[in-house]
Amino acid sequence: MQSQKRRPVVAGNWKMNGDLALAESFTTAFEGQTLDNIDVILCPPFTLLNSLSSDVFSVGAQTCSEYDNGAHTGEVSCGMIKACGAQYVILGHSERRTDQAESNQLIAKKVEACLKEGLTPILCIGESLEVRESGELFNFLEEQLTVVIEHVGIESFRNMVIAYEPIWAIGTGLTASPEQAQEVHAFIRALLKKSNEAIAENIAILYGGSVKGSNAKELFGQEDVDGGLIGGASLKFEEFLTICQAAN
Ligand code: 13P
Repeated sequence: MQSQKRRPVVAGNWKMNGDLALAESFTTAFEGQTLDNIDVILCPPFTLLNSLSSDVFSVGAQTCSEYDNGAHTGEVSCGMIKACGAQYVILGHSERRTDQAESNQLIAKKVEACLKEGLTPILCIGESLEVRESGELFNFLEEQLTVVIEHVGIESFRNMVIAYEPIWAIGTGLTASPEQAQEVHAFIRALLKKSNEAIAENIAILYGGSVKGSNAKELFGQEDVDGGLIGGASLKFEEFLTICQAAN
């Protein structure tokens, strides 16, 4: 497993899936599970935030508003998310960058809003196949991260999680190889190290993109891979538990 200093994290992103029955079944199924060496997080749609609660896992949202309150129809503030008992917010997911045209600048504002409320952002970055093949991979990821670092300051990364999710690996069954994941995770850590060595060493960097029970152990065994952000496989309890156990 990776450096002893970093506590692994496995987060499930339910995306726009799940219902009350699924939330209740996860709450029940996790009861009595011993996953003492990792942080487990479940991120359901907003409507289920109140329906998931556990001593074994924490709860997170999948986005938030950058505003505190006011005339922003359809938006949900960090204060509201916190009031549901959530502690984390996924931000910058590629699906929101694409579907809602979220920019690096907007994501940086959302990160700030989360931190102000005491929520932990899970900041997602990741490239398309086109970017990877153009040779611009590292420049692209550096830009995604740098905008946030410049907006909230490196010190804020003490209370953050980063997730590297290559878009070409999301929901495609095309997992990045452990070597591809490690290469990018090491790059991210080295980039943070330029601003603050201790923060870079301590921050959890998760891999996301077609993680399954069958490939989790090898991915999580990489030096700089500190766990995973799991989509489809987080909707099936047994599969998700196997992934959690691979990190534990
Ligand atoms: P899949 O695990 O379904 O590929 O999704 C990954 C993801 O987008 C998690 O945020």
